[in-house]
Amino acid sequence: MGLLSPGSIVDHSNRELYLVTAAAAGRRSGCIATWVMPYSLVPQPRRILISLSRLNFTQELVAARGQLALHLLDQAQLPWVARFGLSSGRDQDKFADLAVTESPTGLPLLGDTCGWLICQVLQTVDTGDRVLYLTEAVAEHFNPAGRPLREADLGRLPPDIQAALGEKYQRDVAQSALYVRRDRV
Ligand SMILES: Cc1cc2nc3c(=O)[nH]c(=O)nc-3n(C[C@H](O)[C@H](O)[C@H](O)COP(=O)(O)O)c2cc1C
Repeated sequence: MGLLSPGSIVDHSNRELYLVTAAAAGRRSGCIATWVMPYSLVPQPRRILISLSRLNFTQELVAARGQLALHLLDQAQLPWVARFGLSSGRDQDKFADLAVTESPTGLPLLGDTCGWLICQVLQTVDTGDRVLYLTEAVAEHFNPAGRPLREADLGRLPPDIQAALGEKYQRDVAQSALYVRRDRV
């Protein structure tokens, strides 16, 4: 029996669901993200860490532009989990038929979320399968009436969408395993 059991304390969370959007060289995309956290006590400017998969087109756009928009999704945006979390922006424009505005630097911004931050990349850490983006917010919008969407809300998605998300998750785990860096720093 190995030391790592199938159940783990890291599985016991109910993280907020974020939408990361990015644009570069005339292309745009967005992906669902949960691995997002502040990394400084100092409130201004806000410093946020975002872990993005090397497999994601959004990650490529963030790397190219050095900026991203981080939206906290509202309960009403549960259907966006499938829109932004199941397919890749390499193959389609995920914003088609949505009311999108743009930041001064051209990042897609979506209204009716709980709010957003425009985040400037300060440093990156390449872990192989992931790029950890250490960012600082340069602009912010907050909607105090918002009701944040969380991982537990995924249980309210239709069964076929839940199944599709589960299959994609397994594919991403297998692909990511090929890229994980095991060297120590
Ligand atoms: C609940 C949920 C949480 C996710 N969390 C992350 C995350 O923290 N980081 C990440 O890079 N991808 C995350 N993903 C996966 C991306 O949203 C997904 O692969 C997306 O289709 C990538 O689209 P893109 O290729 O247009 O960037 C998550 C997906 C879901 C459904």
